[in-house]
Amino acid sequence: MIRTKIAGIGMYLPEQIVTNNDLTRYMDTSDEWIQERTGIQERRFANRTAETTATMGVEAARIAIERAGLGPEDIDFIIFATLSPDYYFPGCGVLVQRAMKMKEVGALDVRNQCSGFIYALSVGDQFIKSGMYRNILVIGSEKHSFGLDFSTRGRNVSVIFGDGAGAVVLQPSSNMNQGILSTHLHSDGDSAELLALYNPGTHANHWSDKDLADFDEAALGEMFMSHAMIDNAQNFPYMDGPAVFKKAVVKFPEVIMEALNANGKQASEIKMLIPHQANLRISQFVQQKLKLNDDQVYNNIQKYGNTTAASIPIALCEAWELGKIAGGDLVCLAAFGSGFTWASALLNW
Ligand code: ACO
Repeated sequence: MIRTKIAGIGMYLPEQIVTNNDLTRYMDTSDEWIQERTGIQERRFANRTAETTATMGVEAARIAIERAGLGPEDIDFIIFATLSPDYYFPGCGVLVQRAMKMKEVGALDVRNQCSGFIYALSVGDQFIKSGMYRNILVIGSEKHSFGLDFSTRGRNVSVIFGDGAGAVVLQPSSNMNQGILSTHLHSDGDSAELLALYNPGTHANHWSDKDLADFDEAALGEMFMSHAMIDNAQNFPYMDGPAVFKKAVVKFPEVIMEALNANGKQASEIKMLIPHQANLRISQFVQQKLKLNDDQVYNNIQKYGNTTAASIPIALCEAWELGKIAGGDLVCLAAFGSGFTWASALLNW
């Protein structure tokens, strides 16, 4: 039997630090409000022109590949999770293949937002266990700073997010005491519009029947992206924060318990829980609910904000670099976010 192990891990955080006080230059907010509601003190913003979601992913990937003792030519499949791709299409995976001069390997983009990294990890796990690939690169990367409303209108969303990237290399292992024990993926599309970026998109939810009837052929292009959409801020993410909070604090513990139960483990056996860094208050609630000690939960949202698909690999990498995770430790990854989707993975480091 084969397990999938993490053979190398890397992260990349852009240099520019943006504090809560820095944000007060653009919007009516305060360090106190942001820290009290989210725990965030500062976040990183990518260089506006030189860095993209794909280039940050490449930086994290270089480290992960080197730590796995490999070169880019050894990678036989790429999985890239992001909600802030360089292009609407093609996805970021092919940009990594190009930038790292890899062989003409498959490149898959995953669009599961905050749960994206665990979904990507789960896909990689299946490919490794089936024997189809031997060295899979999984990346989570986000450049949120380019797509947020930094006016007071968008403050409930824009103060939460930051930029960054994390990556892992997956390989087969015949050591049954090492690697991914199980992954668990869920969704509930009833809440799709509660945390979403509506436009550009192919839906017509924001048009009245009259608008639609009035469209002639020449105006069809307007349906995808129009001045009205921009005026109504539909090109920025929408979030019903309290609804997200309520659901997250139920689904996080549920999906963590699902992973523990599937493997006959107790919460007390977790060496490190790496929750998606959504909001420090959510992580604290989950910790309390599962009766975990402070040293069993890793949080770094204070420094980096919420980096969506990148937050778990960044936190996992940082915890490992700080020596908080070592060989054989039981590690649990868990995420909840837009979709809604939620997921967990249990692994022996
Ligand atoms: N600064 C100052 N005031 C603000 C800000 C801000 N940045 N944002 C909102 N406010 C104001 C609102 O205008 C409102 O004012 P009003 O009472 O005069 O109308 C007041 O603060 C409360 O607004 P709410 O949106 O109800 O704020 P809430 O207390 O719910 O906190 C928050 C907002 C932090 C987003 C909270 O709902 C939350 O944590 N939700 C979970 C969502 C989350 O973590 N999302 C992360 C991304 S998704 C994910 O990763 C799972």
